[in-house]
Amino acid sequence: MAIVVLISGSGTNLQSIIDAGLLIKFVMSDKHNAYGLERARKAKIPTLSQPKLGSLENSITKLCVANKVNLIVLAGFMRLLNPEFIKRWKGKIVNIHPSLLPSFKGAHAIEKAFEYGVKVTGVTVHYVDEGMDTGSIIAQQAVKVAKRDTVETLEEKIHKVEHKLYPKVIKDLLK
Ligand code: GRF
Repeated sequence: MAIVVLISGSGTNLQSIIDAGLLIKFVMSDKHNAYGLERARKAKIPTLSQPKLGSLENSITKLCVANKVNLIVLAGFMRLLNPEFIKRWKGKIVNIHPSLLPSFKGAHAIEKAFEYGVKVTGVTVHYVDEGMDTGSIIAQQAVKVAKRDTVETLEEKIHKVEHKLYPKVIKDLLK
């Protein structure tokens, strides 16, 4: 069972997926300088970067078909995929989001939750549909906000949970 991973940034979730031993056929990015591409190269995984979203989507589809890929995994991929692409791969694209959806959709979810003053936030893994963080939920894990937490310590806690939860959920989906 094979996956591709789409990233835009540092790729710590990608790293947790690599470390979990999942078979990653390609790592792709809309940013040539995403640090996650470096992580992929170190793990000898082929990479591709393309800022033009339509071209990137065409390459993903071609590579996924040619390599019999079962799941497209978004890990810090910061672009909204086009509806035609979503339709083509419906039920085969997953994302991880650092809040308990449907609360705090979109960018800066951890900061937004912290500033709102929630006592519990968390992590959501969900299918990707045409909306922003609106697809059906696959798994969630709660994270308590302690009185002494700062946004930085909360970020640390959330990322720690992400790095355990995401590889586990992906493994389950590939079963
Ligand atoms: C993660 O917090 C993920 O939930 C969100 O973007 C962040 C990506 O971080 N979608 P990284 O690139 O995996 O380090």
